[in-house]
Amino acid sequence: MKNLVRTVITLSTFFVAAVVGNRYSKFLQTKVFKELESPSILSEKMGLLLGCNKLCSATVDCRRILYDKETNLCSLYDQGEHCLIDEDVTDKVCYRLQYICGDVDCERCPIGYYGDKCQHVIEDCTDGAQKNVVPKIKGISSFIRPLNSLRVIEVWCDFKFDGWTFILTRDVTNPETNFNRTWKDYANGFGHKEANHWLGLENLHNILQNHPSIKLKMFIRYGSPERSGTGYYHGFYVEDVDDNYRLSISSFDDKTSAPVGDSLINGSYSINGRPFSTYDRDYSNNDCPGRFGSGWWFLDDPVCSRANVNGRRSGDNFESTWHWLDNLGYRTDLLRLTMKFTRVDEEYPIP
Ligand SMILES: *[C@@H]1O[C@H](CO)[C@@H](O)[C@H](O)[C@H]1NC(C)=O
Ligand SMILES: *[C@@H]1O[C@H](CO)[C@@H](O)[C@H](O)[C@H]1NC(C)=O
Repeated sequence: MKNLVRTVITLSTFFVAAVVGNRYSKFLQTKVFKELESPSILSEKMGLLLGCNKLCSATVDCRRILYDKETNLCSLYDQGEHCLIDEDVTDKVCYRLQYICGDVDCERCPIGYYGDKCQHVIEDCTDGAQKNVVPKIKGISSFIRPLNSLRVIEVWCDFKFDGWTFILTRDVTNPETNFNRTWKDYANGFGHKEANHWLGLENLHNILQNHPSIKLKMFIRYGSPERSGTGYYHGFYVEDVDDNYRLSISSFDDKTSAPVGDSLINGSYSINGRPFSTYDRDYSNNDCPGRFGSGWWFLDDPVCSRANVNGRRSGDNFESTWHWLDNLGYRTDLLRLTMKFTRVDEEYPIP
């Protein structure tokens, strides 16, 4: 009799475990945003919320669920914290997986978490690729915890090859996000990883601060028919807020693929050593953030910058529209622009 009571308690505590073998799962409620054109769904089914949770537990790549309380429709998704959809968010709730564990260890953690109890978190996307604890996917949302930081944050990663952490993503296939923002927004980050986003200077500094040598990659796709180019920079670093997130870049890479020339540190227009500026905290002395409609490491010069990667897709004039002068010139038909970095600690020591 005593035994039976204990069994019943176990079954109700780990109710999902009773249904899906000897596994138990936990989900945390997150948020729903109307943001993406068409999110990719693993599968959909009608049922109760608890059934939705169980279905996710039983589906290999599922790490997030969206549940419509009005229609009882359950949608399963892979990686990520929040649910981004293209319809009205009323009556919808989002949950993300915290873990699915068996008696001995956990078989499914959120992307970026690892260890037999999902107790560890990767430090950045390079760390994830090196430790081999994440799927080798190009373009995936992951949790990281920068060294010496207590906070786990969500970033966009390329886990193929060296592991790249995204600073900026802009893509015309997603609805436009406003990039003419305050100092606070540029410091904390904004947008959504799956759509258009800025990582945030505070997060960027926290990730970079323990590592002397960082390679920065600019990728730009443009035109019709579509073309693209990639630019590389070495010795990329961003100081802390007390130094206004001052930028350092030591060199531009010859191996860069045309037509992405150097719009950052070329001669007298080099932004190396510049503090960050926004319209409400402007170190350019030329209203560069207001004119360009963006935050950036603007020059103390009427030219402001040879690039406006955070400009509007179609601004009121050329300077406020996103562009990269070297060597794309005055074209503004950009389709996708990303900035990301990887660590190359051994290769390029501190200058
Ligand atoms: C640097 O600027 C000069 C002068 O504008 C230009 O000719 C050259 O192509 C630029 N270099 C790179 C690597 O973009
Ligand atoms: C950016 O926002 C500031 C503050 O609202 C405004 O003064 C400025 O005109 C805006 N710039 C552009 C290009 O829209």
